[in-house]
Amino acid sequence: MCGIVGYTGGRQAAPIILDGLGKLEYRGYDSAGIAVSGARGQIDIVKAKGKLKVLDTLTEGGKRLDGLCGIGHTRWATHGEPSENNAHPHCNTEKTIVAVHNGIIENYSPLKEKLVRRGYTFYSDTDTEVATKLVDYYYKKHGDPLKALSEFALHARGSYALAVLFKDYAGEIFAIRKDSPMVVGYTDGGAYLASDVPAILKYTRNIYYTDNQEIVRLSQDGAVFYNLDGEQIEKEYTVISWNAEAAEKGGWEHFMLKEIHEQPEVVSNTLNYYIQDGRADLSELNLSDEYLRGIDSIIITGCGSAYHVGVVAQYIIEDLARIPVRVEIASEFRYRNPVLTGRELVVVISQSGETADSLAALRGVKEHGVKTLALVNVLGSSIAREADSVFYTKAGPEISVATTKAYSAQLVSMYLLALKIAEARGAIDGVYYNKLTSELSALPGKMKEVLENKSAVQKFASEIMDRGDVFFIGRGIDYAVSIESSLKLKEISYIHSEAYAAGELKHGTISLIEEGTLVFGILTQKALAEKTVSNLVETQSRGAYTAVLASESVQCLPKDCKAVFRIPDCDEHFSASLAVITMQLFAYYISVLRGNDVDKPRNLAKSVTVE
Ligand code: M6R
Repeated sequence: MCGIVGYTGGRQAAPIILDGLGKLEYRGYDSAGIAVSGARGQIDIVKAKGKLKVLDTLTEGGKRLDGLCGIGHTRWATHGEPSENNAHPHCNTEKTIVAVHNGIIENYSPLKEKLVRRGYTFYSDTDTEVATKLVDYYYKKHGDPLKALSEFALHARGSYALAVLFKDYAGEIFAIRKDSPMVVGYTDGGAYLASDVPAILKYTRNIYYTDNQEIVRLSQDGAVFYNLDGEQIEKEYTVISWNAEAAEKGGWEHFMLKEIHEQPEVVSNTLNYYIQDGRADLSELNLSDEYLRGIDSIIITGCGSAYHVGVVAQYIIEDLARIPVRVEIASEFRYRNPVLTGRELVVVISQSGETADSLAALRGVKEHGVKTLALVNVLGSSIAREADSVFYTKAGPEISVATTKAYSAQLVSMYLLALKIAEARGAIDGVYYNKLTSELSALPGKMKEVLENKSAVQKFASEIMDRGDVFFIGRGIDYAVSIESSLKLKEISYIHSEAYAAGELKHGTISLIEEGTLVFGILTQKALAEKTVSNLVETQSRGAYTAVLASESVQCLPKDCKAVFRIPDCDEHFSASLAVITMQLFAYYISVLRGNDVDKPRNLAKSVTVE
């Protein structure tokens, strides 16, 4: 999605804004722009189609734009093609009000018609120009930026993080947000705003998370927050514990490769934080044993890889805790009319904590009075703030669009939740509980072993990089790993891929298998391995080129496999944590070999804050 950055203070604004926009590149974009209040009171705007580099060159790294206050934007086109004209910032006719926006104004069409009737003209196809001119309309009516933004909020439907410069208020930035992320930071002599913390972390660790429909006024003296009635509100800031380097590549060729290699550490951090004296200590979540004994079922929801974590967790929680678990794709769940009794626990999984569909699903179930738990990575994000309880993963900032370490941290967190529920409900005995926690503690070491095998994965990737279709098959948890493997491959290699529950293949999909189609079988569940092997052999009979990923002690493998990858044995509940690493590496190397933009794959954004 789009990224916004703003700065006002004692330093030249443009270089700081461009630097911040660079840290938001992972959100995906097709054009960029910047506006700065110049020394003569004018507002200068520079925009460019394409990479941030183009804007950077145009402005000589921002040096060409003097002025101590400004806003910038990287755009991921929703309304109107990627072009300089549609790029933000947008302005009123007089260029006295200039704005950048992340989100979608859903009723921009009727608002535009209303403004046209009042004499406004439009130069772009964007909803943001409409938003800017709506602010202009209300500013002219009230002569007050706070009132103009309040009225904007009353009339605009949809999601927005909107930052505005008013020529009459030189040196100040006014901003408002609803359902699109916006953080505010301050230091002595400066205030910042951004779509995400990494953009401003180099300058400050003191971060305010703005709530929905709060207005913030930034000046050299700091940040002041208001509600829609124009009343000042007190807010507490959070001190970010991780440093700016955590969000840098640090010598790795890509963020994705760095993040894949950070997984043992991330899993270890999560386990060390939540396992105390050999027990899953989830007291921060405020889920009492009595409460966990009283629930009838668990519903897990999320999008993309977060949903895939839910699919793994479904198998584990049902098996260990003996409670029914449903996994729902958030974009579907939000529009269903689900039968809820109030005795469910709904777990919303989201790395960013800002995914629009997941947030809407959360709000939907809350309306039914159902208790919600958010499993989130980004501190203070919307989902974290709106859920009844929050389970923070300890993955640190994840920059690559393709999730790896956040997925792994979510998985291990769900294992801990499964143990906690199983224990509370008396579904497992102490001996088995202890065995499982010691198996968990061994996971980071085994993940490192999997990483050591990367050159074999790289070699195989080079052999199959030109194939048109890849199928991943497995049963149980291996099926859950298949869907994540397939998504990873698709999103960064652009190779068509499908994941199939191995037993489902012959109900239709097997007709797609042709001479040379790559079918990757995942075999970590011993009791199911033979069945999946039979399915692999069926595909071989139809010409498939097969590979397997198997746990060390799985002996039954199909003959004539072109490649066999091994992962260490572990308790089978946790094998997804090892298997997924090989598959992440597989997708990564193919993407590199095909010359793709690994960290910023085409058409994708890290944080999907629109529907
Ligand atoms: O921030 P979230 O976890 O809510 O994001 C959900 C999906 O958009 C995300 O997992 C997506 O599928 C990843 N790009 C996959 O690598």
